[in-house]
Amino acid sequence: MKKIAVLTSGGDAPGMNAAVRSVVRTATALGLDVYGIDRGYAGLLADEINVLTNRDVGGIILRGGTILKTARCMEFFHEENQRKGAEILKKYEIDGLVVIGGDGSVQGAEILSKLGIPTVTIPGTIDNDMHGTDQTIGHDTAVNEVVNAVSRIRDTASAHDRAALIEVMGRFAGNIALDAGLACGAEYILVPEVPFSREKLAQSLLAQLEQGRTNSIIICAEGADDGRVLSDWLHERTNIDICTTVLGFVQRGGGPSAVDSILASELGAAAVKALLEGKTAALVGMHDGKVRILDYDAADQEEKIFRKDRYELAGILGATQEQDHI
Ligand code: ADP
Ligand code: F6P
Repeated sequence: MKKIAVLTSGGDAPGMNAAVRSVVRTATALGLDVYGIDRGYAGLLADEINVLTNRDVGGIILRGGTILKTARCMEFFHEENQRKGAEILKKYEIDGLVVIGGDGSVQGAEILSKLGIPTVTIPGTIDNDMHGTDQTIGHDTAVNEVVNAVSRIRDTASAHDRAALIEVMGRFAGNIALDAGLACGAEYILVPEVPFSREKLAQSLLAQLEQGRTNSIIICAEGADDGRVLSDWLHERTNIDICTTVLGFVQRGGGPSAVDSILASELGAAAVKALLEGKTAALVGMHDGKVRILDYDAADQEEKIFRKDRYELAGILGATQEQDHI
């Protein structure tokens, strides 16, 4: 193995740059040449491929976004384009590809591996919703961002005796809502994994108010309900004053936390070593605090992480333990 390439794909996540840096510097230290592919599979099809040196990845470890850019590429769902992608990689004599992205990106990588390009994937998404890993790059940073925001919102909500509803990212997964909610002591955490009743939530808020709690915090994953619509509905139903914040993309930008920077550095190095050991069609993830390399097929068999125990704990600690909003 002489040449490898790296790309970032799907939604960006803080720590992707740290992973790119780790891939480049580990590969260089092991005598490999490295190419960076811009804009994920879209850049691959457009032949946007450039040499990456140790210098090119200087100063990026704590930068948000991804210097390689990222994209969602619909063309890559078509077989003729997938073959074209593999041919382009062969033209550059690339012997291995590191893909940094979410579950969708893994599927693209799996196809390339079947077309004769050894691939390994590093899990990168703020949602922490991938098969085969306990942790994805970017999740910790996003959770910290939400916790900081909620802490500020609680101050102003409390000053006005208002409740606060904060909509956070997570179209299909509630891990950001859950982890941030537990970390900041939210009274209510709404996630797509656990259906809830608006009516029961309204009754629970009224019961809390009766007990003197005037500033309940509701953290709502975007996949559980529309934050603004829910807030308006609750206000109409209960007459409780609720300040509403849709946090949006501030959760995805910004430099990585130390946890994500370390995770990305470790997984980047492990991905290069896995390719050198002849691994292909494999995910380089974390399991029980250790780096683990798992075939895509085996990873696919594993349930995505959703910590039901954490959800229950958050209910108890939020003192709405009767979970009467469900
Ligand atoms: P993520 O990697 O964050 O889950 P997406 O699901 O949007 O993000 O996937 C990123 C890209 O991976 C897609 O835009 C597409 O180019 C590629 N991809 C996803 N699923 C497939 C698939 N089944 N076959 C081929 N390519 C895919
Ligand atoms: O990166 C994951 C995620 O942030 C989801 O939580 C969210 O639903 C989605 O990406 C939105 O991303 P985009 O607007 O780029 O499709």
